[in-house]
Amino acid sequence: MCGIIGYVGKRQALPIVLEGLTRMEYRGYDSGGVAIVGAETIQCIKAKGKVALLKEKCRLETIEGAVGIGHTRWATHGEPSERNAHPHKDCSGDIFVAHNGIIENYQALKEKLVRKGHKFVSETDTEIIAHTIEEYAKTEKDLSTAIRLALKDFHGAFGIVVLSKKHPGTLIAARFGSPLILGIGKDENIIASDATAILPLTNRVIYLNDGDMVVLSENGFEITDFKNGNGRQERKTTTIEWKSGSAELGGFPHFMLKEIFEQPQALRDTMRGRLLPDEGTVKFGGLKPFEERLRSLDSITLVGMGTAGFTCLAGEYAIEELAGIPARREVASEFAFRRSAPCKQGCLIAVSQSGETADTLNAIREAKRRGMLTLGIVNVTGSSIAREVDAGIYNHVGPETAVASTKASVSQVLLQEMFALYLARMRGLSKSEGQTIIKEMQKLPAYAEKILTSAGSIKRLAKKYKASRSFFCLGRKYNFSSALEGALKLKECSYVHVEGGNIAELKHGPISLIDKNFPSIVIAPKDSMYEKNKSSIQEIKARKGPVIAITTEGNKELEKIADTVLYIPKTLEMLTPILAFIPMQLFAYYLAVERGNDVDKPRNLAKSVTVE
Ligand code: M6R
Repeated sequence: MCGIIGYVGKRQALPIVLEGLTRMEYRGYDSGGVAIVGAETIQCIKAKGKVALLKEKCRLETIEGAVGIGHTRWATHGEPSERNAHPHKDCSGDIFVAHNGIIENYQALKEKLVRKGHKFVSETDTEIIAHTIEEYAKTEKDLSTAIRLALKDFHGAFGIVVLSKKHPGTLIAARFGSPLILGIGKDENIIASDATAILPLTNRVIYLNDGDMVVLSENGFEITDFKNGNGRQERKTTTIEWKSGSAELGGFPHFMLKEIFEQPQALRDTMRGRLLPDEGTVKFGGLKPFEERLRSLDSITLVGMGTAGFTCLAGEYAIEELAGIPARREVASEFAFRRSAPCKQGCLIAVSQSGETADTLNAIREAKRRGMLTLGIVNVTGSSIAREVDAGIYNHVGPETAVASTKASVSQVLLQEMFALYLARMRGLSKSEGQTIIKEMQKLPAYAEKILTSAGSIKRLAKKYKASRSFFCLGRKYNFSSALEGALKLKECSYVHVEGGNIAELKHGPISLIDKNFPSIVIAPKDSMYEKNKSSIQEIKARKGPVIAITTEGNKELEKIADTVLYIPKTLEMLTPILAFIPMQLFAYYLAVERGNDVDKPRNLAKSVTVE
């Protein structure tokens, strides 16, 4: 969702700010803008639509200055338009603000400001930030004091960056609920909501905490606590290991395809240094201090949203089957709003690629209220979720840029199953059983590589189904997770209607939709559910519904029943979703390309959903 960037240094700010916005495009947005402090004035340029349009508009002007801010907006209050795009300014045109998040009490604040004579030009909640600062600046000469006072008036979530003509050479940023990262350079500093925007300048960063306000100049920075008035704060500097180039296309036409093809490596990186084949178990450095608590867990709740949430459906089966601990997956947004009894021996596992999903963060906070141990499976290091949970496991799959999650999702399933094995070995699963599972896990990267060689035939399949308007995507048990995930991938990339579901439910209603124009994708590997899945496929065929089946290599039987059969290598039942996700990702990708969609940035979507 929205991206923020601010630069202060010796160089021209505009190209740096625009490059940062380009690198944050993947987060999803509908308009953008920049404000640069020049010798006499602040120049602000905005555009509805792509950053490329914004760049074009900037090219037509002479914009010079070494301090600037930029923003990509994903509309929440007010339609996507130039008028609503950030940065927003106060009445005098002195103060400019870019903001991520939502100011929940903006209406009441706006009414107050209007009564005091402030004039508003947009429909956004953000504009009140500039006017509130302006109001305090009437009596407070020091801009940081005026901002600190203004911040206390806001309810909701925000990450903001502010510049002022009267204070050239300075940027002020603050965070409460929306991420902000400070990049420390030589004679220059940068602030952004996303590390990818900072990496071209520096990999030395500080992840700001909620309640932090930072004043940046080319010579340095000072962090203070605006929430509790605790004055100067010391924060740890971290070196980001992701290379700036890892967020580039490297010859692929889209990030989604690149990331699909990175999956063998992503699986290797997920396991690296964690499998202990001799002991038949797994080690997670971050969990060590919690081993005793993990040994005595009586229940596990897995939460996430979208893809991350669907991977939890595989995790819950694995935890119950291997470790014998009652496990259930819950949609993170719903968990957060339940007020159930304290659960001191329970554990919540929050799964999130970005580590910034608001609904998942809320679930963590609710779990803490219940006294649960909170763990995170997170890809982005230093993200809010990574920092709020008691302990975490990183995916280590590098930046995922396409809005559609691919390499992070297979890693999420694998980590949950590795975690299940880790718990199971603490609770009596034998060493040799553990070793068998590890052996199969180690083969996954090679299996993924093999599946990727079928990309060409899946591309042809996408051409064949180009005109279909509706699909079912069906599976059971571990592959109920695959069914929901396959359906989501198709929906978000190809904009076709897909109903994902449990194939056993078909006879209880949905089968009435089946006819020759309503294809079904059925995930039916040769496992404990195979015979039941096969019967369901036959029921679909009896009603003339086309079937694309995904099954295990060597199982030729389905070729006689289904219209098309895609194969995945033979592996343990619990690992099949990791492989089954891949052909469905390819199908969704190629169908989206066939239909001329913006594959990496599907309409209406954001990579990281930081609002509830
Ligand atoms: O960053 P997260 O993993 O927490 O994001 C959760 C969902 O928003 C995300 O998985 C979404 O469903 C993806 N676009 C799916 O491809």
